[in-house]
Formats: sequence, structure tokens, C-alpha cells
Amino acid sequence: MRLPTITAAPGTPPCGPPTLGDDGWVVTRHADVLAALTDSRCVVPSVPDGPVGTLAWLRASVSRFSPPDRHAARRAVGVAALDALDPEELRRHAVRLTERILDLPGEEDVTPARRVPLLVLAERLGLTNPAAATEVVAVAAAYHPGADAAAERRADRAVAALLAMSPPAAAEVTANRLGLLVQAADATAGLIDAALRHARAAPDGLATATLLAEVLRLDPPVRATRRVAADALRLGGQRVRAGDRLLLRFDAANRDPAVIAEPDRFRAQPAVGVLTFGAGHRGCPAQRHALALAAGVVDVLRHASGRLIEGSRR
Ligand code: HEM
Repeated sequence: MRLPTITAAPGTPPCGPPTLGDDGWVVTRHADVLAALTDSRCVVPSVPDGPVGTLAWLRASVSRFSPPDRHAARRAVGVAALDALDPEELRRHAVRLTERILDLPGEEDVTPARRVPLLVLAERLGLTNPAAATEVVAVAAAYHPGADAAAERRADRAVAALLAMSPPAAAEVTANRLGLLVQAADATAGLIDAALRHARAAPDGLATATLLAEVLRLDPPVRATRRVAADALRLGGQRVRAGDRLLLRFDAANRDPAVIAEPDRFRAQPAVGVLTFGAGHRGCPAQRHALALAAGVVDVLRHASGRLIEGSRR
């Protein structure tokens, strides 16, 4: 089976030692990204708090942006919710929902299917109001600090709406359950989009699990993450000062020729050490759930190939 080459997306830096730019260090080598992700001196940038029910409150309450002393307890809330979800059941739910979307009379557009993982998770986490997914998408658009003011205002309204729709629980518990949905929204939709794009070049017999694993490596839906050095440290031979910002580029590190031969070539056996789900105690807690949900959607769409071609033109 001859497998295709997937060139890096425009803007992906080549692998090399960390470089210092206007916005801090850009870290591209696999070993350096992994070292930063697992070094307790490299912390997630802090976020300001805000009144309950706002985007600032949500950010300041979820594990994702929590300082080291608050992180473990908040992460445990999300992990407990995930533990109650069987990935195989999620996959089957995603298959049913995708098939239902494709069966809608006159439905030729497959793009709504990219939101199936979010719809499944929202229902399983007790947000049965069909408007919940739309609100989560609005929050996701402004979740990472730096979004424009209009997106932040829209996200504020969405957080308030999601709070009102959520089953009763302590505010921090609700925030971390909503955090699961926000984290899931764009990452799973992006993975499905990329898998459908690359499926056209992949051999027919390629298993969906392999397609997803290699798409995660070569065209990751989460391209990078940020850290700040809490103390001075050495990274990849460079001196990083306390307070320096670090941009950890998963997209570059996943193609590091030091860890993977012919890094641009699609592999029939998924590569090990792919960094797209992060690593260490802040790594994605939902890797199996994300892959199961995406596999359910992509499997159905790959078999509905006529519609797949139609959808991929949009
Ligand atoms: C293809 C899909 C996904 C990708 C590529 C992805 C990637 C990541 C990455 C890279 C991180 C760590 C960020 C960092 O260390 O700075 C992360 C964290 C997280 N992800 Fe995912 N994720 C995906 C899907 C999901 C889904 C489906 C959920 C929930 C059901 C989820 C929930 C979370 C949570 C709660 C965190 C924060 C963990 C913590 O605070 O310790 N992710 N994800």
C-alpha cells in the first residue's frame, strides 16, 4: 500500500533549537516540547477571574487554565465525568447520530456531522437542550485568551446560557463539566474535517483508526499550546529566563526527523509519541473518547462516499 505524503501546513516552523521571538520562545523539537510539557517549572499562563457566569469566570474555574495548586482537584472533576462515559458507547452513539443527519430528507451537506461529537457529549453530560452545542461553540471561539471583544461578549452570553441549562451542581463542578464540552468542540470538529480532507488521498483499505492517528500527527487540530517559565531553566540548550513565554508547536514536533523517519509520509502503523494530545499531568484526559467519537463519524462519512465528496467541496 503506497501511502501519501502530507506536507506541513503553511506557517509550520521547521524543527530546530528553541528560538526567541517577540512573543517568547518558539519550541519545535519533539524532545524540547515534551520536556516543557513535563517540567513543573513550565506553567500554564494565568487568566484573570470574573463574575460567576462570565467567560472569565469559566476560564478561571476550569482545570485547563488553573494554576498548579488548583489544577489536580479541578482536573479530577472532568476525569470523573469522563470515567462514566464508555468510549465504545460514545462511538456507537456518534454512528447513529451521523447516520440520522445523513438520512435527513434533502440533506446533501455532511458538514453538520463535524459537530456530532459535541452533540453526543452534551447529551451524555446532561445538557439535553438542543441549543447547548451552539452555545458551546460560541464559548470555544473565545476560550483561549486573546479573542476579540465581540467574540468575548458573545461567549459571556453563551456561558450564562449554558449555566442556566446545566444540571444543578456546585459552580466549580459545572464549570469543569462545561470545560469538557468546550475543549471537545473545535478539536473534534477539526479532526473530523482534516480526516475527511486526507481520506481522499488515502488508500481505500486504510483503517479509520490509522487515518485518524496519522491525521493527528500530520495535520493536528490543536497545533500548539502555551507555557510560561516560572523559574529560569535550560530548554534545548537555551537559557530561558523566569517569566519568558513558550509556544510549544505540536505540528512541528510531530514531524521531528530525530524521532520519526520520513516524517512527512503517512504511515500504515501509527507513529508513537505523537504530541497532539499533549503530555504529562496536563495532557488531554479524553484521548480515547475523542478518538472513539471521531471514528464513529468518519466511518459513516467514508462509507457515504458520494456525500463525502460533496461535503469536502464546501
Ligand atoms: C482531537 C481531539 C482533541 C485534541 C487534539 C485535544 C488536545 C488537548 C491538548 C493538547 C490538551 C493539553 C493542553 C496543554 O497541556 O496545554 C488538552 C487538554 C484537555 N482536553 Fe483535550 N483534546 C481533544 C479532545 C478532547 C475532548 C473530546 C475532551 C472532553 C470530552 C477534551 C478535554 C480536555 C480537557 C478537560 C483538558 C484539560 C486537562 C487539564 O486541565 O489537565 N479534549 N486537550
